Amino acid sequence: MRTPIVAGNWKMHKTPAEAEAFVRELAPLLEKFDKVERVVCPPFVAIPAVSAALKGTAVKVGAQDVHYEDQGAFTARISPPMLKGLVEYVIIGHSECRRDLGHTDEIVNKKAKAALAHGLKPIIAVGESLAQNEAGETETFVSQQIRGAFDGIPADRVLSIVVAYEPIWAIGTGRSAEPGVVNEIIRRAIRNTLAGLYGDEVAKYVRIQYGGSVKPNNMADFISQPEIDGALVGGASLKVDSFTELIRITADLTV
Ligand code: 13P
Repeated sequence: MRTPIVAGNWKMHKTPAEAEAFVRELAPLLEKFDKVERVVCPPFVAIPAVSAALKGTAVKVGAQDVHYEDQGAFTARISPPMLKGLVEYVIIGHSECRRDLGHTDEIVNKKAKAALAHGLKPIIAVGESLAQNEAGETETFVSQQIRGAFDGIPADRVLSIVVAYEPIWAIGTGRSAEPGVVNEIIRRAIRNTLAGLYGDEVAKYVRIQYGGSVKPNNMADFISQPEIDGALVGGASLKVDSFTELIRITADLTV
């Protein structure tokens, strides 16, 4: 009912030349896994080369952020019209951007609206800190992030959005969250919040990824959870072997 989506967030890795060589090796290996939507999100400067190299393949391209204005005096920023035609997806609200660039829920919401207005599909990232997790605040906080991100977004645009639940303490730490617990957080804090905003009929079709130390050895445990529709992957997306393996595992578990 929901096509799984596995996206590699390369973060600040790979030069344009490295990125192009990487996807030329990757794309033929991923071709046959058509039950899974396959996405790579390179750094901005590598996007033109990657996008050109992937033309005509099954692998889609995403950006790691986008500004909410079309143009203007915003040094170092990249706007939706600049990305249009080069990428299909854009990650918005990654915890590293929230932390380092001050992206608040309000900014995330503006970016999501701007992306949608230009036909780009947001992957909206949410997730709690270790302190919030230990204080038992996860569901309240994540639900609030969802309400903030979707504020004013009409129901007919919601299915163009993917949500990525990434607990901050699980990112890049090798300490992934427990799959059953993730499933419950996604169900209660994300899908139920979306159901409250848009109704069950819309909410049940929204794709929700897990992210945070996803590796080939734990992928099956996440993907076999009913609420988890794929993964947003950092470290393990940087190697052809491991990224291919994540997608193979997802395809194998998809009916
Ligand atoms: P890791 O898979 O390296 O933990 O990163 C997760 C992430 O932040 C993806 O956006």
